[in-house]
This record gives sequence, structure tokens and C-alpha cells, in this order.
Amino acid sequence: MTLEHGVPEKGDNVACISKVMDVATVAVIGGGTMGNGIAHVFALARFPVVLVDTKEEFLKRALATITDNMRRQTAKSILTPTLMNEALARLKLSAKLEDAAQSDIVIEAAPENLDLKRDLFAKLDNICAPRTILATNTSSIPIASLAAATKRGDRVIGMHFMNPVPVMKLVEIIRGRATSDETYETARGLTLKLGKVPACSNDFPGFISNRILMPMINEAAWALHQGVATKEDIDTVMKLGMNHPMGPLTLADYIGLDTCLAILKVLEEGFKDPKYKACPLFEQLVSQGRLGRKSGKGFYDY
Ligand code: 3HC
Repeated sequence: MTLEHGVPEKGDNVACISKVMDVATVAVIGGGTMGNGIAHVFALARFPVVLVDTKEEFLKRALATITDNMRRQTAKSILTPTLMNEALARLKLSAKLEDAAQSDIVIEAAPENLDLKRDLFAKLDNICAPRTILATNTSSIPIASLAAATKRGDRVIGMHFMNPVPVMKLVEIIRGRATSDETYETARGLTLKLGKVPACSNDFPGFISNRILMPMINEAAWALHQGVATKEDIDTVMKLGMNHPMGPLTLADYIGLDTCLAILKVLEEGFKDPKYKACPLFEQLVSQGRLGRKSGKGFYDY
């Protein structure tokens, strides 16, 4: 039995050891920042990966980014050229969603848009074998609302990677209300095979990571908006005063201001709490096409 948002009731044996499904093949849907990083780490961990996106040009760009990032790791002796070439050879690019059909797990990393993701989940549910796990890299959309687009709620789960995926150790694993123990243990085991560390969250808006991170970034934007300090000084305080690797406004640019805005909206609507209301600077900058690093301009110019 679980309560709303999949919170276990007292007495639920959430730690019970259950079967783990064998995962031999992986599909990643979406070759953007997160999707290409996810394909990168699975290919390096020796999984054959099919990376699916809607257009050849997106796939070419994703492959170029993966190659650059692997070269960067090779230059730092994290990889050998042989390992890099073997990993790249495990990567197949496809513009057809049907090519995900043979995979044991599909990891969806499409843009943070509920309708788009629900549509993808409904299509994947039809295309893939009944045993296939459908995972989402969503940063805040409820797992339950994606599971509801399928007839396999027990095989739907969140696997939320952090940017830059090849570097960041965490994978936040989100159990939906119907996610089975087998699906959870499989996602957890895969995370460990990637050399990453899993942390489990129940299905609340923003999960753990963005429920805590986004209010901090939002508060930094309000501080800038209200003239408390310059962007540089806000970032310097958090970087040097709190030992964060990046200041919050630099990090917002790194994540993407459109993504930050979308997550804040999910938090505000999900909790019906105005404390999550996005600072107007996000709408302003996004409407000017200042999406952060990916568009060359955000809080900062790149
Ligand atoms: N692929 C492979 N390697 C990469 C990489 C990539 N995409 N990006 C950086 N690296 C490597 C570099 O080669 C370097 O390797 P080294 O330590 O062996 O020299 C190392 O990572 C550090 O990179 P740099 O020297 O270029 O720069 P920094 O020292 O400034 O580190 C950073 C960059 C790792 C991005 C660091 O600034 C950082 O940790 N920033 C915070 C990132 C963060 O908070 N991410 C989470 C965002 S929230 C999220 O993703 C959730 C979403 O839902 C919003």
C-alpha cells in the first residue's frame, strides 16, 4: 500500500530484495544535452545504445558532442582511444522511434513538456515489448502522469541524470505509485553499473533535487531583480562563500533558463504554493531567446 505520491506506508517493505531484470540493450530518446550524455555513459559501460531523435541534424550534433566529450576524457586519460572507439561503435543513431522497440530499457530525455512526453510514452508503450522498462529523465514532471499514458505503470520509472552526465555521479531514481520493485531494483543496478550513485525519491513535484535546487536559483534571480547585488557578486558569494562549484546564476545558464522556468512552474502548480513562483526575469530572458549557455546568452553572455 502506498499513500498519495507513492509514499510508502508504515510497514511497507521497500527495502525487500526483488528480481532484477537483465538489461542488454538501451534506447535513449532525445539527443540534446541530457540525452547525448546518457547515451555516452551507457555506451562507455558497454551497453549497445540506440539514440533516437526526430531529425538527422540533431543526431549528427549529438554524435559530435559525444565524440568531443569522449575526446576530452581521452585527453585526460580517463579513457583510452580504444575504449572510446569501442564505445562509439556501440552507438547507433536513428530518426525512427520504432528502432527503440528491441531495447530492454528506454530512457526518454525529450524536452520538459508534459504533452510531448505523454505522447512519447503512449507511442513507446505500443512499440516496445511488454517487458521493456520505460524510464524518463524528467527533471520534475510526475512519473504518475507519464505512467498513466501507458498500460505498464509497473515498468515506468524516473532516472534523473545530472548535467554534465559524464561527470556527475548522481542518478535520482523516482518511483511512481505503481513502479514495481523489480523495475526499481533494475534501475538501481543499472545506475551502479554506470559507476554512478543512486538516490531514491518518491513521486513529488521536483523530486528531491529540483525541489531544493530551483528555489535557490529562483532566489538568486530575485536578488538580482530587486537590485540586491550584481550577478557576478551573487555568484561569487555562493561559489566562494558556500563552496558551490558554480554560482546559481551561472548554473541556471548551464541548465537552461527555459528548463528552470518549466521546473518552477511544475513546482508552483504541483504544490499550489506561490513560494515557487518564478522570478519575472526568467520569463523576460526566455522570451528574448536568452536561454543560457545553449543559446549563447542568458544571465551572462557566452
Ligand atoms: N563530458 C565529459 N567531461 C566533462 C564534461 C562533459 N560534458 N564537462 C566537464 N567535463 C570534465 C572536464 O574535462 C574536467 O575534467 P578533469 O576534472 O579531469 O579536469 C572536469 O569535468 C571539470 O571540468 P572543467 O575543468 O571544464 O570545469 P570545472 O572545473 O568548472 O567543472 C563542472 C565543470 C563539472 C560543470 C562544475 O562546474 C560543476 O560541477 N558544476 C555544477 C554542475 C551541477 O550542479 N550540475 C547539476 C545541475 S542540475 C541538473 O542537472 C538537474 C536538472 O534537472 C536541472
